[in-house]
Amino acid sequence: MGAKKRWLFTLFSSAFLSLLFLLVYSISAFSSSKQFPSIVHHGTHYPPTFAYYISGGRGDKDQIFRLLLAVYHPRNRYLLHLSAEASDEERMRLAGAVNAVPAIRSFGNVDVIGKPSRLTYMGSSNLAAMLRAAAILLRMDAGWTWFVSLSATDYPLITQDDLAHVFSCVSRDLNFIDHTSDLGWKESQRIQPIIVDPGIYLARRSQIFHATEKRPTPDGFKHAVHGTKIKVTHMLYFCVNVTCGDSYSTTAGSPWVILSRSFLEFCILGWDNFPRTLLMYFNNVVLSEESYFHSVICNAQEFKNTTVNSDLRYMIWDNPPKMEPHFLNTSDYDLMVQSGVAFARQFQRDDPVLDKVDEKILKRGHKLAAPGAWCTGRRTWWTDPCSQWGDVNVVKPGPQAKKFEETIKNLLDEWNSQMNQCK
Ligand SMILES: *[C@@H]1O[C@H](CO)[C@@H](O)[C@H](O)[C@H]1NC(C)=O
Ligand SMILES: *[C@@H]1O[C@H](CO)[C@@H](O)[C@H](O)[C@H]1NC(C)=O
Repeated sequence: MGAKKRWLFTLFSSAFLSLLFLLVYSISAFSSSKQFPSIVHHGTHYPPTFAYYISGGRGDKDQIFRLLLAVYHPRNRYLLHLSAEASDEERMRLAGAVNAVPAIRSFGNVDVIGKPSRLTYMGSSNLAAMLRAAAILLRMDAGWTWFVSLSATDYPLITQDDLAHVFSCVSRDLNFIDHTSDLGWKESQRIQPIIVDPGIYLARRSQIFHATEKRPTPDGFKHAVHGTKIKVTHMLYFCVNVTCGDSYSTTAGSPWVILSRSFLEFCILGWDNFPRTLLMYFNNVVLSEESYFHSVICNAQEFKNTTVNSDLRYMIWDNPPKMEPHFLNTSDYDLMVQSGVAFARQFQRDDPVLDKVDEKILKRGHKLAAPGAWCTGRRTWWTDPCSQWGDVNVVKPGPQAKKFEETIKNLLDEWNSQMNQCK
């Protein structure tokens, strides 16, 4: 080879190599803009994270998927439950839709329960399913701060950035749980009747059984129910062979809760007998998910100071209340948004008011995750801004956060003054 040829060869090969290098670099730069900064950090220096349990029944697949996209954030954890009355096909299609979202596939933080529970209306199978979900979430993810229960008919009124930002200033031991021990009419209709939930025993029957007798409300513990307060004065019915210890009271309230990790560990890991003892009793109580956590928390010394008496949901009830609140529609939009809470219920599937929330608050495109500070993709009408992402540990509150912050501040002032706590 002559000197000239060698020189040409060197030139071409170095040009080829730099081209190759550029190509590899651009590919890695392209993918690293997605992967490199996306490690989720937990701990007090980072915003809190939420473990969502979203449940529904047959035909709720689309509503659950829409709700998931509306509350999605890579830092959070999600467990979706379509109860046993829904078909396996519906469950598979939900899982398919979830996996088709690029961010969800990449962060792997959404699961669909494969072995569903049979849920009976008003029966304790609902409570059992919620405890099971909390147990799964505790085991699967060591990082989350609060557990949030939602149903397919719920929808958020703030973004996840708003929620995480405002909750950054909240003590991580606090529990948002609407409760009272003034049981009122609920005592005879809810606490005293003895029921058996066939869902717990996997029976094919779809309604709870009512026993012919009622049992006295136990004075073993204090009950707390939604909007109500009584002193309970008899022994736990089911405590015949269990040591029930001192006096407790029954407390009840909204089944929609935001519970701290530490409280759920107390309920589920079982180093103390008390949550288990109460569970045996509430197994046979109507709508036990409206009173179980409430009664445990108000009777446990180490947790009774941690209750903030609000479920942070917007609902409109009839007077006297029916079993479920009104379906909200566009006429309710203004009041709903001014309420300054985190979620609202309940909604008909694809009601226009949900589109309004998507457009005005969540800035969410059709079938796309609600964008947050983590989304770095371009925002055009044909692209998904959340198909690319940057640092997911940074949150950026929007205009709705201000109102929500005020609500939380007022609740915390109330909590500090010890008004409205467990009595
Ligand atoms: C709860 O509040 C009561 C009343 O202020 C106080 O005496 C008690 O020490 C508090 N308990 C805990 C665990 O903070
Ligand atoms: C919303 O629902 C209420 C009843 O709950 C009804 O009176 C009102 O007309 C509804 N508004 C719209 C826009 O559908």
